[in-house]
Amino acid sequence: MWKMKQQSKMLSRIMLTVVIFASWFLAAKATPTERGTAPNLNDFQLRPATNQAELLDRVIKLDTKLPKLGVKNILEQANRHGEPSTSLETCNSDATARRTLSSASYCFNASDSGKIGGEVEWMPQGVTTVGDAKTDQYWNTKQPILISWYDKKPKTPTNTDADKIKGARVTFFDPETAKYQHVLLVYPFINSFGNVSYMSLRTTQKEGYDSLHAGGIAWYGNYLYVADTARGFRVFDMRYIFDLKEAKNGDITDKNQIGYHNGKYYGHGYRYVMPEIAAWSSVVNRDSTKTCTLNAGSPTFSFTGVDRSGFPHLTTGEFCADKIAAGDINKSGRVARWPLDGNTGQPKLINGLWKADAAYRLPISNIQGGVSYNNTWYLSRSQGASNGFLYVTKPITSTTGILEIDTAHYAAVGPEDLSHWPKADGSPGGLWTVSEHPGKRLLSTIEQERLSPLALINIEKDHQIDIDTIVTDFI
Ligand SMILES: *[C@@H]1O[C@H](CO)[C@@H](O)[C@H](O)[C@H]1NC(C)=O
Ligand SMILES: *[C@@H]1O[C@H](CO)[C@@H](O)[C@H](O)[C@H]1NC(C)=O
Ligand SMILES: *[C@@H]1O[C@H](CO)[C@@H](O)[C@H](O)[C@H]1NC(C)=O
Ligand SMILES: *[C@@H]1O[C@H](CO)[C@@H](O)[C@H](O)[C@H]1NC(C)=O
Repeated sequence: MWKMKQQSKMLSRIMLTVVIFASWFLAAKATPTERGTAPNLNDFQLRPATNQAELLDRVIKLDTKLPKLGVKNILEQANRHGEPSTSLETCNSDATARRTLSSASYCFNASDSGKIGGEVEWMPQGVTTVGDAKTDQYWNTKQPILISWYDKKPKTPTNTDADKIKGARVTFFDPETAKYQHVLLVYPFINSFGNVSYMSLRTTQKEGYDSLHAGGIAWYGNYLYVADTARGFRVFDMRYIFDLKEAKNGDITDKNQIGYHNGKYYGHGYRYVMPEIAAWSSVVNRDSTKTCTLNAGSPTFSFTGVDRSGFPHLTTGEFCADKIAAGDINKSGRVARWPLDGNTGQPKLINGLWKADAAYRLPISNIQGGVSYNNTWYLSRSQGASNGFLYVTKPITSTTGILEIDTAHYAAVGPEDLSHWPKADGSPGGLWTVSEHPGKRLLSTIEQERLSPLALINIEKDHQIDIDTIVTDFI
């Protein structure tokens, strides 16, 4: 009985694999118009949050209550040590399944690394660097890399502070010293006594809602844009990072509390809190039952990046799971480009709306990160417990269309958001990502010029979707 069950299970898996691989293979052979339909650019429009002005006003009120610290000084007193890789052998070979992939990589401190198969409180997701933020690629004397994490709900209650829904945090990482500091992202509000307070970042800013996923982050000028999966963006400002340790009215020992209580400001034990100053939401109503379908309407904001080639843009894209898309390109997700104002670091608006000026259908599902540069897109794809992939697309200059894979390369296990750090002269540089699985975490970059000799794979021959491992993918 057991044997028969196993056999039929295996057979159906093999058949599914064959079907999916075959459809992908056929799809890859067909012309773009036969493969799928280009997205409708009108679906990609964002409006300011209805409480935009109030958000900033609350942050300005917080500024009268709490001291601040700037990014350079935060890095100088950073409280955690990571570990740089000494050579192309990474500091954690489990993160790359022992392949040599990266040009540079860093491991987190053991307290943030997790153990293979173990439970963890925080999951890393988004990556952005000073190469996104500034033309000269320096923040004062520093070249920070930022990583976002979301608070993962424990499977069973732990009866510790780990049960609290702590939202999202951002790590400021100094590649020069491998020292880093976590900063808790918070949502400001006025409490019922009229005091300015804040709560953790949630999918909806009310008690009972889950932590925001923070699947992608993009630093541009003074602003940090955090992907808000179902809505658009939450925006933070490097000039408003509050220091609860230096505050006379701050408490950094109580990990259970957040916000203002009886004359004191708490941050779940974190020293620094960074409040939301603005938010952007989709104009077109979102029907969550239609995500990752041909007529999905407004997009999902799973990841984000910065493209400084030509006019500056934020890039965003959708994660659509393999097992649902099953080789149908119409269900593989979309990416878009959102114009930025290079003088202010803010969105470039048309009649008060932030409209994407390009949107494309992704060539394949399960994309966890994507960024464009000089009309070429770079895409990261996870594949359960196996190595992920890094794709380079053929250049595309039309306003809408379907991306086509040019070359495919192996990536780390469980790669997430992508960030492109160009060379100082503006030529293509390194692609940064963070791999998310406990015990297999790595912050790493692959220099584009190293891509081909290192890990070029024959897409048609090697690129098979491994159904067995897909179930373990996290979004
Ligand atoms: C994608 O949708 C279009 C429009 O409905 C259709 O013509 C095309 O065949 C679809 N592609 C696939 C792979 O189903
Ligand atoms: C983790 O950080 C602590 C405190 O900064 C440090 O003492 C320890 O050596 C670090 N561990 C590793 C493995 O880097
Ligand atoms: C804020 O809280 C303090 C004590 O916790 C209280 O005295 C004060 O009236 C409150 N309201 C405002 C608007 O500051
Ligand atoms: C942009 O791409 C074109 C080819 O598509 C290439 O000739 C040019 O050198 C590239 N520019 C940069 C800055 O990489």
